[in-house]
Amino acid sequence: MEVIVCLLALVLSACEAQVFFQPEQVHLAYGAQPSYMVVTWVTLNHTNTPSYVEYGIDSLSWVVKNSGQKEFVDGGNETRSIFIHSVTMTHLKPGERYMYHVGGPLGWSDIFYFRTMPTNTDFSARFALYGDMGNENAVALSSLQELAQSGSIDAILHVGDFAYDMDTDNARYGDIFMNQIQPIAAYVPYMVCPGNHEAAYNFSNYRNRFTMPGGSGDSLFYSFNIGKAHVISFSTEVYYYYSYSKYGWLQIINQYKWLENDLRAANTPEARAQRPWIIVQGHKPMYCSNNDGPTEQCNNLKGNLLRYGIPSLHAFSIEDLFYKYGVDLQFYAHEHSYERLWPVYNMTVCNGTESAYDNPRAPVHVITGSAGNREGQTGFNPEPYPWSATHSDDYGYTLMTVVNATLIDLKQISIDKGGKVIDHMMITKEKSNPGFDCHLHHQRALL
Ligand SMILES: *[C@@H]1O[C@H](CO)[C@@H](O)[C@H](O)[C@H]1NC(C)=O
Ligand SMILES: *[C@@H]1O[C@H](CO)[C@@H](O)[C@H](O)[C@H]1NC(C)=O
Ligand SMILES: *[C@@H]1O[C@H](CO)[C@@H](O)[C@H](O)[C@H]1NC(C)=O
Ligand SMILES: *[C@@H]1O[C@H](CO)[C@@H](O)[C@H](O)[C@H]1NC(C)=O
Ligand SMILES: *[C@@H]1O[C@H](CO)[C@@H](O)[C@H](O)[C@H]1NC(C)=O
Ligand SMILES: *[C@@H]1O[C@H](CO)[C@@H](O)[C@H](O)[C@H]1NC(C)=O
Ligand SMILES: [Fe+2]
Repeated sequence: MEVIVCLLALVLSACEAQVFFQPEQVHLAYGAQPSYMVVTWVTLNHTNTPSYVEYGIDSLSWVVKNSGQKEFVDGGNETRSIFIHSVTMTHLKPGERYMYHVGGPLGWSDIFYFRTMPTNTDFSARFALYGDMGNENAVALSSLQELAQSGSIDAILHVGDFAYDMDTDNARYGDIFMNQIQPIAAYVPYMVCPGNHEAAYNFSNYRNRFTMPGGSGDSLFYSFNIGKAHVISFSTEVYYYYSYSKYGWLQIINQYKWLENDLRAANTPEARAQRPWIIVQGHKPMYCSNNDGPTEQCNNLKGNLLRYGIPSLHAFSIEDLFYKYGVDLQFYAHEHSYERLWPVYNMTVCNGTESAYDNPRAPVHVITGSAGNREGQTGFNPEPYPWSATHSDDYGYTLMTVVNATLIDLKQISIDKGGKVIDHMMITKEKSNPGFDCHLHHQRALL
């Protein structure tokens, strides 16, 4: 035995460093067109070959390749490198199930499959949503893997905070995380936004490992269309890290300008008629009722940077922007819990006509940060704010179905209670653009 071990050690040291060409961390994202699918993966060494995807409906009959692989050098003290491959499949037929594998002459991944979105905007898009999932204590993971592999969801929205943290241990935590979500993300598009746990080295692990469509070009903000919804992902973190970088203010303004242009385009009468629902995800909430300390998001609402905008200038308020352009539904995380709000704007509840969520007169916010991580769950203030409809600190995730032009269905699943639906809510609306009038309502209330 000892002899064998010694021999092995000898061989290993004689080989100098090992090389690792095997594809890992395979994950999908929607591309710039409904007929595109983007697949991204990692090899630990440079392959010196093109990066291939072989794919097809019944067999791996088509091939697409990309000659560039990106070296990502982590900012840690080992300046460790990994190699990121990203290939876009184009001309995919709508509503088909494709099989694929990735790699090239030096090694192939397992075979995975995905389903393209029907071009028909009349289909009901199904999402699982959650934030704040780590490597350790990722409580929701197995349910999510089951949902993705059984074809029960079309896409994931991961509302920021990954791995805890991707840069930890010279970005080995990032590799572990991306391998851990491969059983989800290799089957359904894994659409993300950045959280505070991604901030290290100017969000470099986040910006390099994910390949979201368009927008900022580095996944920090972007949008895509699916069924009856226009989905926007943005960075709340530019509001919190602006003082950390001399470019910070510029980043707030760049993103705000992009958001406004994107919302304007989504609000032309034709666009809004085709996709009446505008849904956003961002990491840190504007409203929440958690007991996370006096200066945190939940307990300093007047000073909340997303609500208030840049301090003292009161400019570039995200709350005002989303209200003005009729954003229906906003998902946040960061608090390790679930909370659903009544329609709210400017700290005023603006319920709909027949009931709270029937033609809401302001955006609806949901905070869903309970997928599980090593920090555990967050509790609530004894008296939640008046706009708080319900809350839970069970581990879990949210399921959303954009049923049609007039109905969105939301469920909160508790892992603690064995997959039970602990909250169910439906938003209905008659007009494609809700034309919120909470502001007027508020003025009236003051008179
Ligand atoms: C391959 O990657 C490993 C792990 O990062 C590294 O230690 C080794 O030096 C690399 N080998 C080559 C030939 O680049
Ligand atoms: C890198 O940093 C870690 C933790 O800060 C430390 O334990 C380690 O010794 C450092 N390694 C080098 C090569 O400086
Ligand atoms: C951080 O990255 C952003 C792009 O995402 C860039 O605009 C900015 O200049 C970078 N900041 C620093 C300090 O490098
Ligand atoms: C909004 O509707 C909910 C549910 O009907 C109700 O409990 C709440 O009091 C309403 N709030 C306001 C301000 O009307
Ligand atoms: C949307 O679906 C609901 C529930 O099936 C139905 O009542 C409603 O009429 C549908 N709306 C449209 C515009 O099809
Ligand atoms: C927001 O509410 C405050 C009072 O709480 C009021 O002074 C202000 O005019 C309101 N802003 C808008 C845009 O409605
Ligand atoms: Fe966070």
